[in-house]
Amino acid sequence: MAYETLLYEKRNAIGYVTIHRPEKLNALNRTVMEELFDCFQNLQKDDEVRVVILTGAGEKAFVAGADINELAAQTPVEGKETSRRGQKVLDLIENLGKPVIAAINGYALGGGCELAMACALRVAAENARLGQPEVKLGLIPGYAGTQRLPRLVGKCRALEMILTGEPVTAQEAHRVGLVNQVVPAPELLAAAEQLAQKIIANAPLAVKFALEAVNHGMEMSEAEGQFLEATLFGLCCTTADMKEGTRAFLEKRPAKFVGK
Ligand code: COA
Repeated sequence: MAYETLLYEKRNAIGYVTIHRPEKLNALNRTVMEELFDCFQNLQKDDEVRVVILTGAGEKAFVAGADINELAAQTPVEGKETSRRGQKVLDLIENLGKPVIAAINGYALGGGCELAMACALRVAAENARLGQPEVKLGLIPGYAGTQRLPRLVGKCRALEMILTGEPVTAQEAHRVGLVNQVVPAPELLAAAEQLAQKIIANAPLAVKFALEAVNHGMEMSEAEGQFLEATLFGLCCTTADMKEGTRAFLEKRPAKFVGK
């Protein structure tokens, strides 16, 4: 996969996607969004890739938001279309069928914070700053930040971040449950890889169904979510990996999963 604004590589069952516009702090212009959609569609189909790590080029920013040059020139109709298109890209990332880990290597603002929130897990460098500064531009978050942020950190903190537009430090983001881990910047990728390898050691279909149960379950009433969980639990019982995983435990040996 060769792109103008993304770097892509695959190693040890991990797909590495790097947004590469460092001179613009990896701001999400139309090309980046189109290329992210294409790249993640390919990653969804690639069974060799079990986990994706998403990061930004350079040492300063993960993504400093949607591209303000493009936003400034939008008509209302284009603004709505941009928002819907962006939401679709982030929905694909959230529901990829395999976990995406955001390695937040600096500013994650506006669309950057929203992109990180669409990922299953987030590891942040100590210098990272996360925020939704759209109100400072006369806008509101448009890539589902008003929906994912309160679901992640609660309405109280989400409204503080969205209404003030002020970013939070990586440590504060960790304290409120917006990121999973904070590590020194040089250790960021290794920390994300360590998390990825722990997931890769598990049964692929179980990981996929667990993601589905949580993501779709959160859109439902608790009773409906429990029903979905029971159905997916039952589906796990049809897999060769469930038989292998339970047998391996009883035989006191490591399981060999095949993804079936
Ligand atoms: N869209 C377009 N360009 C952006 C951008 C964005 N969201 N964020 C940064 N850039 C560009 C800057 O315009 C600058 O380009 P230039 O060198 O051609 O002038 C370059 O990236 C470097 O940014 P700069 O502002 O000079 O870096 P800084 O260290 O002084 O400040 C930030 C860093 C992140 C605090 C600042 O860039 C910023 O506030 N960005 C916008 C954040 C935002 O509001 N995002 C939400 C958008 S909805």
